[in-house]
Amino acid sequence: MSEAKGITVLGICGSLRKASYNMAALRTAIELKPPGITIEVADISTIPLYDEDVRVQGFPPPVETLRRQIKAADALLFATPEYNYSMSGVLKNAIDWASRPPDQPFAGKAAAIMGAGAGMAGTARAQYDLRRACVFLDIHPINKPEVLIGQAQTKFDADGYLTDEAARGFIRDMLVALENWARLINPKS
Ligand SMILES: Cc1cc2nc3c(=O)[nH]c(=O)nc-3n(C[C@H](O)[C@H](O)[C@H](O)COP(=O)(O)O)c2cc1C
Repeated sequence: MSEAKGITVLGICGSLRKASYNMAALRTAIELKPPGITIEVADISTIPLYDEDVRVQGFPPPVETLRRQIKAADALLFATPEYNYSMSGVLKNAIDWASRPPDQPFAGKAAAIMGAGAGMAGTARAQYDLRRACVFLDIHPINKPEVLIGQAQTKFDADGYLTDEAARGFIRDMLVALENWARLINPKS
């Protein structure tokens, strides 16, 4: 990956809610990204519930699209809510679909994980569950900085703008780390 070439990042949000704090965090990432990366956000809203009987007949079109986007991206950026101390079913379902053979598209991808939640822990438990899935998927997430946006209702305004300066700084630093990491682990020839 030459320094001249930009890094393409696919954002994947685990919430379908219109006013989602996690989607707002992804928008913040787009706002704060360094010039060397572009961020596209996947639409996982029409992915059906995983069914192996359907899978053996072929991936549904929204899954094909997601798999293609993952394959094409240099890196992934997950924005995960925390549902009952884990990632949302919506996110896990999308990951499960995209992960099936052939050509598991996540393998070898650089990634970063962030999350916004109502609780104090800022989706820490969901993020660690997602990191566990990354092991099996052979995704390589950066370790730091962690972006844990707790009590999200106090950190975004009514328009979904992230007003918390510390959180904005963590997102900015995470994107710099992600760009460096993606260039390091997957140099383009
Ligand atoms: C089913 C469900 C489970 C939840 N469990 C947790 C939880 O374990 N920890 C937490 O901090 N918030 C929890 N929440 C609250 C979410 O943090 C909150 O709804 C948040 O806004 C979800 O992210 P979003 O704004 O991106 O949709 C839960 C919400 C739902 C709907």
